[in-house]
Amino acid sequence: MKNIILFASGGGSNAQQIMEYFGQRQGYKVSALFTNNPNAGAIAVADRYNVPSVIFTREELNNGTVLAEVKSQNPDLIVLAGFLWKFPSDIIKEYPHKVINIHPALLPNYGGKGMYGINVHRAVHENKDKESGITIHYVNDNYDEGNVIFQKAVAIEECLSPEEVALKVLSLEHEHFPKVIEELLNRQQ
Ligand code: GAR
Repeated sequence: MKNIILFASGGGSNAQQIMEYFGQRQGYKVSALFTNNPNAGAIAVADRYNVPSVIFTREELNNGTVLAEVKSQNPDLIVLAGFLWKFPSDIIKEYPHKVINIHPALLPNYGGKGMYGINVHRAVHENKDKESGITIHYVNDNYDEGNVIFQKAVAIEECLSPEEVALKVLSLEHEHFPKVIEELLNRQQ
């Protein structure tokens, strides 16, 4: 059984897609949702799929408490699906090439601290870019700088607002993220 754990801070639409996708396949399990946000929509999503949620504080993330909890889950892959805090080095060190993130733009453009969610789409829209897209990458100690695993672009010339860009990008995320996760898990021994 390949074990996936998710980290999410927000609505959890990617978390939902991932739980739905792997719920329909043999040999994979989403075993926990980790969140820093007690009000995250992702928690309700996890409840619907009978996935337990682990809520933690910034202190617990950085003092080894969350690492211990992660270890107890024995994950094959740690997936950040809209997780907005900096991910701690101790977990990255413990799980080399097993922590991945999705970013709602074509990195290296529009990455770094503060560049998440609608902030990214606002910047893209303000620059009048003709395309945006998604980047799935390994997580290292710097925001949005780990090696790229997968990218996909989408035309946004017709989008009249950052919210319209967000919708297009989110639907790309939903289409590709679960498949990329599956591929990475299948590549592991
Ligand atoms: C997604 O668009 C994801 O790419 C983005 O947060 C959103 C979460 O949506 N992540 C970042 O911006 C990370 N820098 P969701 O909660 O509906 O899955």
